[in-house]
Amino acid sequence: MASSTAGGHCFLLALLLLSSAAYGQLSENFYAATNCSNLDEIVKREVSRTLFTVPPPDGGRRMGASLLRLFFHDSFVQGCDASVLLDINTDVRKGRIILSSEKQASPNFNSLRGFDVIDRIKDEVERNCPGVVSCADILALAARAAVVALEGPTWPLLLGRRDSTTANMTEANNALPGPNSNLDELIGKFHNKSFNARELVALSGAHTIGQAQCQFADPKQQKARCPNGVVGKTASLDVHTPEVFDNRYYGNLTKDGLLHSDQVLTSRDDVKAFVEEYKSNQDTFFRDFASAMKRMSELGVLTGTNGQIRTDCSRVLN
Ligand code: HEM
Ligand SMILES: *[C@@H]1O[C@H](CO)[C@@H](O)[C@H](O)[C@H]1NC(C)=O
Ligand SMILES: *[C@@H]1O[C@H](CO)[C@@H](O)[C@H](O)[C@H]1NC(C)=O
Ligand SMILES: *[C@@H]1O[C@H](CO)[C@@H](O)[C@H](O)[C@H]1NC(C)=O
Ligand SMILES: *[C@@H]1O[C@H](CO)[C@@H](O)[C@H](O)[C@H]1NC(C)=O
Repeated sequence: MASSTAGGHCFLLALLLLSSAAYGQLSENFYAATNCSNLDEIVKREVSRTLFTVPPPDGGRRMGASLLRLFFHDSFVQGCDASVLLDINTDVRKGRIILSSEKQASPNFNSLRGFDVIDRIKDEVERNCPGVVSCADILALAARAAVVALEGPTWPLLLGRRDSTTANMTEANNALPGPNSNLDELIGKFHNKSFNARELVALSGAHTIGQAQCQFADPKQQKARCPNGVVGKTASLDVHTPEVFDNRYYGNLTKDGLLHSDQVLTSRDDVKAFVEEYKSNQDTFFRDFASAMKRMSELGVLTGTNGQIRTDCSRVLN
């Protein structure tokens, strides 16, 4: 009897897994029936350990910012499919590129950080439940855990993303915004990903944490914030509280915004109104940032039988 009950459970379980796969949708309890049900705990533990006990450059609070940015650059290119994590793959004999890497795209090259952190989390997850959790889900969970660890808001994350077998360097070059973008370009690029101007302003609030290379700073900011030269130097994106996720970034954006693309958010009255709103009300900023992040995390996801679960996040599984 006992074994037939267990069999019945297994059958129901299989049916459940099958049906969520067949519908091909993200779901809140995607891993609940697997032995990866403590996935979020593992991710939070590893992110906290990295931010608060590993010294820079491998860890430290800035790494939280780097993880958030890594997820943004994944989601805006082919969707949240971990395509940003794939290394270039060349056929050495034929001297031909089999898979171009988004890591080589100009917004990413010598700029993105945090790949090792994702690899470490993935290894830890694989030890607990091999072959079950995608790199794409780990990236989404790590970005959220990082924001929460730096005292920012949380948001509900649906899970069940699968990993891409492709990457697209051209799309990374086209879709990701650059530091010298004007407001129309920013609005256009975010509109292309379904975000309105208000959401652009909310998401730009991610620059409340982390650093940028001085070479990307607006010329006036370079003078003020990189007094010892630009080469190899970084400056905080939020001049006030760069290691805390708060609304101080919006404080004096026109004057203190490190990047031209930060400053232009105040260059048109209707958009500036959002900056003013978030500056005067952190709860509103947190609420809007959280809901925009949830939506970002659902861009172009692969689900069901699409894509794959990689073992090594930097390589397509053969
Ligand atoms: C609005 C258009 C945006 C532009 C033009 C932009 C551009 C940049 C640039 C140039 C850097 C510095 C990179 C470097 O020095 O190598 C940076 C850093 C950063 N960006 Fe953005 N970004 C934008 C939006 C976003 C969004 C939507 C997010 C996340 C939701 C984000 C998160 C970050 C974070 C956290 C950092 C600091 C990373 C670190 O310290 O490693 N950015 N961004
Ligand atoms: C977890 O489940 C997977 C797939 O069902 C199985 O291969 C693996 O051995 C399990 N791991 C542990 C630690 O129980
Ligand atoms: C890469 O993205 C561009 C759009 O920027 C698109 O035109 C092209 O078809 C994509 N390439 C592949 C192989 O999907
Ligand atoms: C938005 O997407 C379209 C189609 O891919 C592209 O032609 C256009 O340049 C994009 N807009 C911006 C501002 O990148
Ligand atoms: C903005 O700048 C003014 C003058 O420098 C300063 O008094 C004020 O505290 C700043 N506001 C914020 C929110 O940082």
